[in-house]
Amino acid sequence: GITRHYKFDIKMKSVTRLCQTKSIVTVNGQFPGPTITAREGDRVVVKVINHVQYNVSIHWHGVRQLRSGWADGPAYITQCPIQTGQSYVYNFTIIGQRGTLFWHAHISWLRVTLYGPIIILPKREVLYPFPQPYKEIPIIFGEWWKADTETIINQALQTGGAPNISDAYTINGLPGPSYNCSAKDTFKLKVKPGKTYLLRLINAALNDELFFSIANHNLTVVEADAVYTKPFNTNTILITPGQTTNVLLKTKNHHPNATFLMAARPYATGPATFDNTTTTSILEYHHPNKTNQVTKLPLLRPSLPKFNDTTFATKFIKKLRSLANSKFPAKVPLKVDRRLFFTVGLGLNPCTNVNQTCQGPNNTMLAAAVNNVSFIMPNTAMLQAHFFNQSKGVYTTDFPTNPPFKFNYTGNPPNNSKVVNGTKVVVLPFNTSVELVMQDTSIIGAESHPLHLHGFNFFVLGQGFGNFNPNKDPAKFNLVDPVERNTVGVPSGGWVAIRFLTDNPGVWFMHCHLEVHTSWGLKMAWIVMDGKLKNQKLPPPPKDLPKC
Ligand code: C2O
Ligand code: CU
Repeated sequence: GITRHYKFDIKMKSVTRLCQTKSIVTVNGQFPGPTITAREGDRVVVKVINHVQYNVSIHWHGVRQLRSGWADGPAYITQCPIQTGQSYVYNFTIIGQRGTLFWHAHISWLRVTLYGPIIILPKREVLYPFPQPYKEIPIIFGEWWKADTETIINQALQTGGAPNISDAYTINGLPGPSYNCSAKDTFKLKVKPGKTYLLRLINAALNDELFFSIANHNLTVVEADAVYTKPFNTNTILITPGQTTNVLLKTKNHHPNATFLMAARPYATGPATFDNTTTTSILEYHHPNKTNQVTKLPLLRPSLPKFNDTTFATKFIKKLRSLANSKFPAKVPLKVDRRLFFTVGLGLNPCTNVNQTCQGPNNTMLAAAVNNVSFIMPNTAMLQAHFFNQSKGVYTTDFPTNPPFKFNYTGNPPNNSKVVNGTKVVVLPFNTSVELVMQDTSIIGAESHPLHLHGFNFFVLGQGFGNFNPNKDPAKFNLVDPVERNTVGVPSGGWVAIRFLTDNPGVWFMHCHLEVHTSWGLKMAWIVMDGKLKNQKLPPPPKDLPKC
């Protein structure tokens, strides 16, 4: 591989959307941010220089970071933030991965405007295991607020209540014609007839799962979270925040110069209020010989499932299978060293100060927790503390590997849903095969949680609704061709089972990729110890690692 150098100048930029101008945090003044392109095996070196008043850090979402945990990016987990006027060089090699991922800020809510695609091409001369596309197009979904970032963050952190709701969804940073004064701000994809396009879909939205569809066109799913899948056709894609999906779009042979709408809108299971708007962009056919013949056909709209169409969502998720052939085998760990059971969901905490909206009964507010622990961010980096054996006062290793009490998780709220606050981790030896069942508790609200694991891909063995049954459900696990990914939706009122191998030493964050749930504490961390061999150890930190 070669080395690819990038320079990310973090600076403010005035951007107008929905008739309102505000100053946003950007990379190099671009919104969405620049695309990182590399090939499998390349080294990527990104110098990030912070010119804004906020602390920043950048995460390369889905990049395995094999023995390069110092470059992973979540603030206070693997590094202290990059302070104003400071810089940090992220340096990592892309090993055994190719496909679509994305980068985003990993501190506070800065990823609302700080994000961009990561495209990892196969090694030179290596073909895709599907028809070679004529062109490749990144399509990155986001959320836009009219309010400034400061206000959004303060609302999210102070209220402890319902999330502040975005004003629009965006496709490649543009809301599109379904919103007021946004006709100009519409992403347009110009295509030729009879060609195959690879659309690299990325959900960088903060708080919403999305359905995506193109009027009159079928899509073929070929990859999820930068792992090839068995191809299947669908007219609608479901994508959670933190997930990426590659689809092939075959343009029709004999179309006039027509235009079609592409649209995305949320999938939401909870009764909670959310941004129920639709973002659209345009697919425009250009015939090589009839350039001036623009037929004024009405824009065809795709039909998207209803916002709470769980039947569609479940069917779609079950179609996702890894390719699992001799060239791309599914390396599912067949033996299990550790079995863990995590409840994930919202719970209640006593209201402690007047700034909070106490929406729960008896003066309680919403909190989010894993096994009833609501994670508190430490004020120094956990990876450093771990590496230098200075964990005292930073974190404790008593994260419960089972919930503190058992009940009907999908039933009525129990009395003891009170959560504890703490910076707790699970410590695992190198090369441990972990089976983790995540059970949604549905205590308050009923939203699915897209759980994202740093540092690893995992296999999704099974999922279901209701309570996980340890005596019956494992018999149905798919150990043959389970989809391999880095972010999985824990279904509302249900469970999901995953398996991964701890082949990557370091401190690895795991959290809900709905930003509002993460803020409320739906997050935890794993520590994977060094192995015995030299190539199983985490090297010392780079000299310029930021200090807190
Ligand atoms: Cu995409 Cu921890 O994040
Ligand atoms: Cu969540």
